[in-house]
Amino acid sequence: MSFYENHVLPLLLHLACGTRVVDRQRAKVVPEAQGRVLEVGMGSGLNIPHYNPDKVELVWGLEPSEGMRRKARKRLAGAPFEVRWLDLPAEEIPLEDDSADTVVLTYTLCTIPDWHRALEQMRRVLKPGGRLLFCEHGSAPDENVRQWQDRINPLWRRVAGGCNVNRPIPRLIAGAGFGIGRMETGYLPKTPKFAGFNYWGDASPR
Ligand SMILES: C[S@@+](CC[C@H](N)C(=O)[O-])C[C@H]1O[C@@H](n2cnc3c(N)ncnc32)[C@H](O)[C@@H]1O
Repeated sequence: MSFYENHVLPLLLHLACGTRVVDRQRAKVVPEAQGRVLEVGMGSGLNIPHYNPDKVELVWGLEPSEGMRRKARKRLAGAPFEVRWLDLPAEEIPLEDDSADTVVLTYTLCTIPDWHRALEQMRRVLKPGGRLLFCEHGSAPDENVRQWQDRINPLWRRVAGGCNVNRPIPRLIAGAGFGIGRMETGYLPKTPKFAGFNYWGDASPR
């Protein structure tokens, strides 16, 4: 693994995901997590302060990047609940069927190479009645913004660790066998429009 992937990229992702506007987005979904939770792409652990410790029994933090896991160390050490690392990609979730009450997915579906397989894995490990809580950026509703997203995506993906700005998030989630419950959308303030259209809410296996 290159120096860029192991050190520079984790720092850039941590900074980009740690802004106040993004933090406000986390606060809209993460506190709803309960029971045994799988967080997919835990990154530098920025969701940890948003979990409600009275509702969470355990969090499995799935994160394939060693650099991101290293960045998360301090935040995890202060967590008021148990966090267990899973150092594999979401396409290979190493958990039994029906083992999680909640799956948390924030700003990660944009990056997972085989998103369909990953979402199928999330559905497999969710208990019947369990919930997928998501907050993701993706394809914008405005034609002119969407055109920019499509134009910029090949370059963006290369510099931003595989992140795609133009994925149609609800279509991907529904296409993998989830029924979307609550969902809200909108452009984030103080964020370039091409990367700032967000989708957040919950979904359950159909
Ligand atoms: C933009 S960061 C977001 C991190 C975190 N979810 C957050 O909200 O701050 C994207 C994360 O997805 C992780 N990732 C990349 N490929 C992945 C895969 N195949 N499965 C799971 N996570 C992956 C990256 O290592 C990175 O930590």
